[in-house]
Amino acid sequence: MSSKICIDDAAAFEKRIPRLAEILIDAVAGGAGVSFMHPLAQKDAEDFWIGQLNGIKAGSTFPVIAEHEGQTVGIVLLIKAWAPNQPHRADIAKMLVHSKYRRHGFATQLIKALEDRARSLGLSLLTFDAVAGSGAAKFYERLGFINVGEIPGYAYSGTGKLDGTCFFYKLI
Ligand SMILES: CC(C)(COP(=O)(O)OP(=O)(O)OC[C@H]1O[C@@H](n2cnc3c(N)ncnc32)[C@H](O)[C@@H]1OP(=O)(O)O)[C@@H](O)C(=O)NCCC(=O)NCCS
Repeated sequence: MSSKICIDDAAAFEKRIPRLAEILIDAVAGGAGVSFMHPLAQKDAEDFWIGQLNGIKAGSTFPVIAEHEGQTVGIVLLIKAWAPNQPHRADIAKMLVHSKYRRHGFATQLIKALEDRARSLGLSLLTFDAVAGSGAAKFYERLGFINVGEIPGYAYSGTGKLDGTCFFYKLI
């Protein structure tokens, strides 16, 4: 059983896009609140990832990837804040582990690698949001992220349930 975590450059990331689209479609179909609604077409999912390429090339977005036995099984994006008055802050986005590979520690390894890269970039504050009461929110709380509160009725889940959203931060 061989697994690895890596941070892709744009060329490596581009090759993974069809598989990353499958992982996004899988999450949306499972009811995750990750921007999109089920059913999500392969092309629309691929377009989302293609849209990250400019940030990756510019060095403002870092795609952290989990591979298991040569296959991509998870991803999380580290996205530096664009604003000149927030040079120390980044967002975490699209933390996704394919449903067949969950509860094996892949997301934990992805976040650890993301935090390591964020520190090496001189960043000190990570922020993001997650569906209130979700497995993802529990996952982040377990890793020491601070939940600052919930806005009710913020966004629909992939399968159409209106959910609250919690906002999180971590000082690293
Ligand atoms: C959230 C997600 C990324 C977790 O990935 P994962 O690889 O299964 O997470 P890990 O195996 O590293 O989990 C570590 C710990 O977090 C907690 N955790 C993870 N998923 C959980 C869940 N669904 N419910 C409750 N706790 C959970 C557990 O304490 C777990 O440890 P354990 O398995 O020993 O009990 C994954 O469930 C996922 O992709 N969900 C759909 C997409 C999504 O909602 N993304 C988040 C957007 S904000």
